[in-house]
Amino acid sequence: MIASVKEILTKAKEGGYAVGAFNTVNLETTRAIVEGAKEMRSPVIIQITEKVMEYSGGRLIYNLVKNDAEFYASEIPIGIHLDHGKSFEIIQRAVAIGFTSVMYDGSRKVFSDNLEITKKVVDFCHEKGVEVQGELGNVPYLGEAQMEDIDWDKYMTDPAQAKNFVEETGIDALAVAIGNAHGFLKERAEPDFDRMAMINKSCQLPFVLHGASDWESGRVAEAIKNGVSCFNVATAIQIAFMNSLINSVNNQGELGFDLRKLLGGARDAVKETVKYKIKIFGSDGKA
Ligand code: 13P
Repeated sequence: MIASVKEILTKAKEGGYAVGAFNTVNLETTRAIVEGAKEMRSPVIIQITEKVMEYSGGRLIYNLVKNDAEFYASEIPIGIHLDHGKSFEIIQRAVAIGFTSVMYDGSRKVFSDNLEITKKVVDFCHEKGVEVQGELGNVPYLGEAQMEDIDWDKYMTDPAQAKNFVEETGIDALAVAIGNAHGFLKERAEPDFDRMAMINKSCQLPFVLHGASDWESGRVAEAIKNGVSCFNVATAIQIAFMNSLINSVNNQGELGFDLRKLLGGARDAVKETVKYKIKIFGSDGKA
């Protein structure tokens, strides 16, 4: 069933666990996330980026996810979310398509611009009953910078600014930067959990941690303890998919050219990754 992302995150925060927000790109990854959540009886968020909207057609991918959530997992709360919307225009487009939860990512802008546009997005969305995630601080991308050159202090969320940002904008969830990075094994060795604790003390809303593909149970537990209710996972899904596909292609044998078998194997590999993540986030059995 389609559920409110805010409700899913609030319940997670109150319950001391987190949920996964898994990025989908196509039918196979969507079905894998839905089936993984269903088998684990876990609430889940399926998210779609602006680039995936361009790749698949926004309306098509949104309706694919909606159909799967309603048809294949009617008893499981599933939130559909726009991930990393970078402009007011893409937010408007997503809302027109039917998204009830969006992220406006102004994290690369100067603080005053990020605040101003995020507030404009919140005003627009809340009037239509749409929930908004904002981001403060920077979560770097693999290949964007030499990780060893990163001045992490500049990248991280400032706790005092966060309080101001949350109060002024009225966002429903905040994406934080505490040393996390998009992509595998590229974040700095130790996330700044003291900083996370300070942010959690001054802001009363759920926090989202991007770049969680390679976060294992120890870090996950520490982040949840300090207020994180949602972990974003994209790279781990793509790696599971591609490893399976490469393996199938290299050992084609009786699979031949049957795309359903080749892609079905990749779908099943993604489902196992989703189930593993759900287990370490602690949301299994919560639906
Ligand atoms: P990873 O690709 O590192 O899992 O990050 C995903 C993400 O944060 C999507 O918003």
